[in-house]
Amino acid sequence: MGVKRIGVLTGGGDCPGLNPAVKWVAKTFIEEGPQVYPGERLEAWGVRDGWKGLVEEPLSDPAAFARQLVALDPLSVRTIDRSGGTILGTSRTNPFDRKDDRSALAVENLKRLAPEGLVAIGGEDTLSVAKRLADMGLPVVGIPKTIDKDLSGTDYSLGFESAVEVITHAIDDLRSTAGSHSRIFVVETMGREAGHLALHGGLAGNVSVILIPEHDFDLDRVNGIISERRKHGARYTIVVVAEGAKPRGGRQVVRDARADAFGHQTLGGIGNWLADEIARTTGLETRSMVLSHLQRGGRPCAFDRRIGRSFGIAAVELVFKKQFGRMVSLKEGRITSVPLSDAVGKLSLVDVVKEYDTKRLNGIRISDLPVRA
Ligand code: F6P
Repeated sequence: MGVKRIGVLTGGGDCPGLNPAVKWVAKTFIEEGPQVYPGERLEAWGVRDGWKGLVEEPLSDPAAFARQLVALDPLSVRTIDRSGGTILGTSRTNPFDRKDDRSALAVENLKRLAPEGLVAIGGEDTLSVAKRLADMGLPVVGIPKTIDKDLSGTDYSLGFESAVEVITHAIDDLRSTAGSHSRIFVVETMGREAGHLALHGGLAGNVSVILIPEHDFDLDRVNGIISERRKHGARYTIVVVAEGAKPRGGRQVVRDARADAFGHQTLGGIGNWLADEIARTTGLETRSMVLSHLQRGGRPCAFDRRIGRSFGIAAVELVFKKQFGRMVSLKEGRITSVPLSDAVGKLSLVDVVKEYDTKRLNGIRISDLPVRA
């Protein structure tokens, strides 16, 4: 009797929805695998901390194997889909980092760990590594995950709806204090270069101004909307600003100018800047709130659990069919798959013409504004 092994890892920023996907990768491989590999012993292994677990040490050493990998089976993953984060841990390690290339070890370890296939769950960075490994002939498939929802090739990435829920509830909860004090509140959301999270969180929270990176804003216009509302009796106004948004002629605000292994700087700070500017130019009491990592916290919402399940099953189906170099995807309501090359390389951003009203600084008022696309 031989052994058939699958590996699964989660890379990049964590979010709710990863555990449901991990669960269904392991469960599907072990429970459906006997039909594909009759008479073989089946094993599912979780790699600790994303690509880091494959580049730390040679997995030929049994002690290293035990350190870097977690055995997964239907019993051990039974209840993980209810919790946020990732039971495997994650990192922003890049095996192809120009300053410290450890891809040779990743390839060697991958061949040993998961000859049947590796499922990489991640966003643009994690999946760009998956693509490079698949291009080298390794059996890798991907599952899209990112609260930023900036991956191409799919209408949905795990974590997005859970993060939108967090933003919506935060805005709901702010209203009473904003109203009691007649204050302006600026709520800063994540999303990097993409405004999806701010736009859909702001729409769900029904705020008056939403500022996104895809459209540089004009402070006078923001103030104009606030003063119009006050004229009509509103005691307070909530403004949602994406961390990547910037004023016309200005620059993005970065929290940490150092770049990570994929070359990204950490954005953050526009909310405080904007609140100060609104207060300075209008004289109105203004406060800012940075939602930060709360947007990646908490339990997965129902949608992320269901899509996590579907994506996990679909990824293992790709492995069973040996369709490597692909990412599972949600397109027009159906689960399908696309080449990893379609997913990475070009970010999917808010389409300002179709989705954003540049006068109202809010979502466009059409009935078919894409809710998840
Ligand atoms: O890509 C997901 C994300 O949450 C971005 O929205 C945000 O800019 C970034 O990760 C924050 O990264 P970190 O967790 O490393 O601070």
